[in-house]
Amino acid sequence: MTDRKLMLITGASAGIGAEFARQYAALGWDLALTARRADRLDLLARELEDKHEIATIVIAQDLAKATSVDTILKEIKAAGRQVDGVVNNAGYGLPGTFFNTKWKDQAAFLRVLYTAPIELTHKVLPGMAERGFGRIINVASLAGFTPGSNGHTLYASVKSGMIKFSESIHAEAAAAGHEDIHCTALCPGFTWSEFHDVNGTRDKTNEMPEWMWMESAPVVEAGIEACDAGRPVVVPGAVNKGLATLSKLLPDPLARMVVAGQSKRFRNTD
Ligand SMILES: NC(=O)c1ccc[n+]([C@@H]2O[C@H](COP(=O)([O-])OP(=O)(O)OC[C@H]3O[C@@H](n4cnc5c(N)ncnc54)[C@H](OP(=O)(O)O)[C@@H]3O)[C@@H](O)[C@H]2O)c1
Repeated sequence: MTDRKLMLITGASAGIGAEFARQYAALGWDLALTARRADRLDLLARELEDKHEIATIVIAQDLAKATSVDTILKEIKAAGRQVDGVVNNAGYGLPGTFFNTKWKDQAAFLRVLYTAPIELTHKVLPGMAERGFGRIINVASLAGFTPGSNGHTLYASVKSGMIKFSESIHAEAAAAGHEDIHCTALCPGFTWSEFHDVNGTRDKTNEMPEWMWMESAPVVEAGIEACDAGRPVVVPGAVNKGLATLSKLLPDPLARMVVAGQSKRFRNTD
């Protein structure tokens, strides 16, 4: 058993997750990388092993499968390692409305973006508590602060849930005296990644002004920094911070009106 620390990152094959892998590798963490696309994970793992002399474990899993979390943790254990940190990052937007989507797709969405990260956190916390150290970053969204939109129905609910969940884990760890177990919800706004290609809104989001967008590097930096500092919620970037504050200040009916009016600019309702 090594005394090196291991960070498990879900959705590490692209975008924000791959950037988390790059930044944690540069900080000297060993990595367990998971997503469905094994070829991408392998390439990233080789790149980071060569560049930073770290060890990696690649685990191809579909988080929509009910057994995926157990399989991931079993593979890490079989490699003789323990989980010192988790970035619950895997995610996507499900196009369409609740009226015109299949339950099978909604159920998979809930599993990947909500149940799996919560189950993973539940299963790694006892080990973290035993060792007195843990870092958990839940990638939520600015959408977690705003009213539900027309289209991508459960996205705002799930991201809001991840913010509340992170606050609870933060509070419970502190109350139990686990001073070095930190849990943070990272709440990005529009971030360059494959997200909007996957959910089919790239044409729409290309119309959004440049100042609304962030690169994944500063988003991830803000997440790592906030988690190390023990902050339960972080919104990266000045524009996003402004929008998060505004969404809290606006009266609910007005906020709903704004979101209803704007939804079509970045949500697919077909
Ligand atoms: N980009 C934004 O504007 C933005 C804004 C706010 C929040 N976020 C959040 O940031 C997180 C990362 O998104 P991103 O922007 O980096 O998007 P991305 O570039 O599309 O990456 C998404 C990652 O999630 C993985 N993933 C998707 N479905 C999966 C499944 N069923 N099982 C396992 N892994 C799965 C993908 O890997 P495979 O396809 O290989 O499985 C990929 O690695 C998400 O939680 C998203 O909601 C993004």
